[in-house]
Amino acid sequence: MQEFKRAIRESLAQHSGLDSNTIKLERPKKAEQGDFAFPCFQLAKERKQPPVAIAQELAAKIGADLQRVEVVATGPFLNFRINRSDLSASVLKQIAGENEGFGHSREGAGKTMVIDFSSPNIAKPLHVGHLRSTIIGAVLKRLHDALGYTTVGVNHIGDWGVQFGKLASAVELWGDTVDLEGDSIRALLALYQRFHEEEKRDESLAERGREAFRELESGKDGSVRATWRRVTELSLRELSKTYARLGVSFDLIRGESFYEDKLEETIERIRASGVTEESDGALIVRLERKGKEIAPALLRKSDGTTLYATRDFAAAFHRWDEFHFDRCLYVVAGNQKLHFEQLFGVLKRMELPWAERAEHIYFGMMTLSGGLKLSTRDGQMIFLDELLDRAVEEALKVIQTSKKFADIPNPEEVATQIGIGAVIFNDLKKERIKDVQFEWDDVLSFEGETGPYLQYTHARMCGILRRAEKEGPPADTAPAWAQLEDASHLILTLGRFPDVVRSAAKACEPSEISQYLLSLCRDLNSWYGHAEHKVLGVDAPLSAARLQLVNGAKVVIANGLRLLGVATPEKM
Ligand code: ARG
Repeated sequence: MQEFKRAIRESLAQHSGLDSNTIKLERPKKAEQGDFAFPCFQLAKERKQPPVAIAQELAAKIGADLQRVEVVATGPFLNFRINRSDLSASVLKQIAGENEGFGHSREGAGKTMVIDFSSPNIAKPLHVGHLRSTIIGAVLKRLHDALGYTTVGVNHIGDWGVQFGKLASAVELWGDTVDLEGDSIRALLALYQRFHEEEKRDESLAERGREAFRELESGKDGSVRATWRRVTELSLRELSKTYARLGVSFDLIRGESFYEDKLEETIERIRASGVTEESDGALIVRLERKGKEIAPALLRKSDGTTLYATRDFAAAFHRWDEFHFDRCLYVVAGNQKLHFEQLFGVLKRMELPWAERAEHIYFGMMTLSGGLKLSTRDGQMIFLDELLDRAVEEALKVIQTSKKFADIPNPEEVATQIGIGAVIFNDLKKERIKDVQFEWDDVLSFEGETGPYLQYTHARMCGILRRAEKEGPPADTAPAWAQLEDASHLILTLGRFPDVVRSAAKACEPSEISQYLLSLCRDLNSWYGHAEHKVLGVDAPLSAARLQLVNGAKVVIANGLRLLGVATPEKM
């Protein structure tokens, strides 16, 4: 399909004087109008001619150039329609040839993307907000990997701050009352909560916590640091199990503590650019949004301590110095908008040429409903592992009770793929800035707009291909491409997949992939559900052509799901 688009662009460029690289072919409003459209309004303005006349003139000229493409002027639009047989052969042969690589390219080669994602505060259970960051960030990384970018996935864990002084004290005081080695995160949470309770009654505890943090900050390699190190290791060990279940990995686990010895030079770098001010003993940078002052960025508090923000400045400089990134994405919930506005605002005030390359990729909140009883007392936290366990359990129940799934050879494995895939897909279904509802019945349904529905459609295509090996036409049958006319809408959709990958990466919008897959699967199931669209048991050349379509759909669904991090079982 790409070769037809290229030919259209070139001919259009030749007859209009436009640069062929800048010509954007649109999708016509109605499929009957054609496969691609080009509006003539811009040209009309430049040439001071009516767009309808330009469309007519260009249609005649381009039509004479292109043999396999029909060109029609419809009002101010040029509409192009590829010969059906050529379209089918071109798209489906390309997919079969490229297979897992279909949708991938090298256009990002030589460019670096730093992606800061997940980044939880350790020693606490992962929060639903971190679930979203983890899942969305991992997709953005895979999308850019597919386009040939060099990606650096960074987990900027929260492993520093006065709470770690408290936690270290709590471990020293009561560490042997909990199961630190076996059930680390729960044990640490319990210790932290206990510290908070007892601190209210016993003033000396708060001071002990602060003192421990001072010792930590001093760099002294004593007992506090040893405890802090142990806490970090235990937390990371647990976290990495959860990441493995989600199929997520990082290139760097580089937490806030990494920047501890770089904070002074960071503050100096900002001060030297002349943008800082002292205010009540604190060091700040004043900022504006559209001419109105907003809360200033705080680099150092009046008591001399640094902050989360100070460490983020250090990280931004360090990342720039190390990677010279083309884009640095911070995949963090929308409630940190002000923090990032301040961070980037200071970089802009410093007139750093790369300031515009840093972006906050925010997302909406996830709300849990449907009687989910996984939150802790304050209702805020959820043990992500339990959520995943429950999803897998529910999927297993469905598999074991429904006849449809009676022949699955490995129900446990498939239930894991379905359950976890369902949770992941639910998070990626809508535009990332929208809030997400988590309803068990919706998430795990095999019929709605869900991960299981896509996985099931994929497995169905795999099943047809397996049957074809035994009952299908001989392998060397030439496909009757011209007879796929009734599926040309589907074939065009398949051919568009590489554009969708590109666009989703550019906009950092995983839902472009998920929505594309949902609509592809809907169209596919309705095409296949038609009594006249039998794939096997028809004339061999027709069967061979339809099998190419089935294969194309299978490959595209699998490639799309893989980008989203959703498993693709072949049998279910
Ligand atoms: N640890 C922070 C939190 O849980 C998120 C960190 C995001 N990344 C960053 N570079 N600030 O809220």
